[in-house]
Amino acid sequence: MNVVMIGTGYVGLVTGLGFAKLGHRVACVDTDVAKIARLDRGETPFYEPGLPELLREMQEAGRVVFATDLADVIGGAEIIMIAVGTPAGRDGFADLSYVEAAADCIGKLLDHEALVVLKSSVPVGTNRDVLARVRRAMGAAGREALTSVVTIASLPEFLRPGFALRDFMEPDRVVIGADDAVAQQTLDRLHDGIKATRAFLSLESAELAKYAANALLATKVSFINEIANIAERTGADVREVARAVGMDRRIGPHFLQAGIGYGGSCFPKDVSALHQMAGTTGYEFKLLSAVIEVNNAQRERFVSRVAEELDGVRGRRLAVWGLAFKGGTDDVRGSSAIDVVQRLVGLGAEIVAYDPEGMELARRTLPASVQFATTAVDATTGADALLVLTDWPEFKDVSFAAVHDRMAEPRVFDGRNHLADSGLKEFGFTYHGVGLGSRE
Ligand SMILES: NC(=O)c1ccc[n+]([C@@H]2O[C@H](COP(=O)([O-])OP(=O)(O)OC[C@H]3O[C@@H](n4cnc5c(N)ncnc54)[C@H](O)[C@@H]3O)[C@@H](O)[C@H]2O)c1
Repeated sequence: MNVVMIGTGYVGLVTGLGFAKLGHRVACVDTDVAKIARLDRGETPFYEPGLPELLREMQEAGRVVFATDLADVIGGAEIIMIAVGTPAGRDGFADLSYVEAAADCIGKLLDHEALVVLKSSVPVGTNRDVLARVRRAMGAAGREALTSVVTIASLPEFLRPGFALRDFMEPDRVVIGADDAVAQQTLDRLHDGIKATRAFLSLESAELAKYAANALLATKVSFINEIANIAERTGADVREVARAVGMDRRIGPHFLQAGIGYGGSCFPKDVSALHQMAGTTGYEFKLLSAVIEVNNAQRERFVSRVAEELDGVRGRRLAVWGLAFKGGTDDVRGSSAIDVVQRLVGLGAEIVAYDPEGMELARRTLPASVQFATTAVDATTGADALLVLTDWPEFKDVSFAAVHDRMAEPRVFDGRNHLADSGLKEFGFTYHGVGLGSRE
């Protein structure tokens, strides 16, 4: 099939290359000229394991092209997919301006039958609005007679940064929201080669399913953080509690890791967009208010604990391991680690940070006073404490003896309980985790 992907960001590039791998011809469009130039040269604009190899393979096979102008690639497109950003806008509502601009652009140019597919995460009702927008723009361009051959479908994305290619090829399910059987069949065929169950839903259900999935995962994180706070006060170890609870197949072990809370480019904005969307229907989503509140409090609680233990952080040198919102990605958008660093800088701390992949992007968001080290060990030189804020596996392999020698005070605050089993006490460190109770 001929597919055009509008928006070649994280989701657009991964899924665009994924569809090419399945045998389709894919044209990826982005208004970011520098990004398209890099991709044309065979360079991926962000870190994702396996992606550079897949890009090269698909370019060599001639199954993917890149463009900055939709007009150059829209001819013959059977599927036009929108995968542009839907960031948090005013008051936490989803900012749909990129989706709307893409819809207008499609309508202005489209002169043949096509299925428009919305891959971006959007509030309920957006798919219908996008179809109306495309048709309006077609009408304005003098192609009123053709508007009936354009249809819409929702294809929400569930992939995880760090595992994106595997999640594309082996998803838990493919959610397809559509009104008519032809659109359903088209998207079913588009996924030929992917074994996962297709969940055929209405447009509205598919839109809500995406937000509901992220909101439920965020709820699990806030829930286990509440349990961690009780564990801290009672001597229980939240990791043991989570393990026992997660063994229940009705609950499962995922997203039960206590720490400094969820972050990333999706959870915070999707939780907030769902919360606000519920409000516009006249419904108060009380549970989500608490999920958001607990997540913010968890970051603040961690910062307060560091400040308390150090008797204030002003002028204190703090080594930070991890800036990405989780291990395995360079994405720092909405990262809890970034938020914690900003709060500490605000309190006068001197920060020396290290992240295996996220430093380039973090540099653009963090205050200029934050210093960056070239290795994890280097970051700890002269530090009054080490803060572990992202669960990069390689942090477990660092020489803790070397770290101990370099630090002014051998003290670790682990915001992810990532080094809880690394025997830091035996190396002479004071170790503080989250919700480890009497294990600290
Ligand atoms: N990042 C994730 O892990 C993830 C996972 C599932 C779903 N999603 C959802 O997918 C959507 C995209 O997220 P992302 O992380 O890929 O965003 P992103 O910000 O990485 O990429 C969006 C891209 O769209 C481009 N763009 C904006 N307007 C355009 C236009 N009119 N024409 C062409 N290109 C345009 C931007 O230049 C950018 O490159 C969002 O709705 C997000 O919530 C993201």
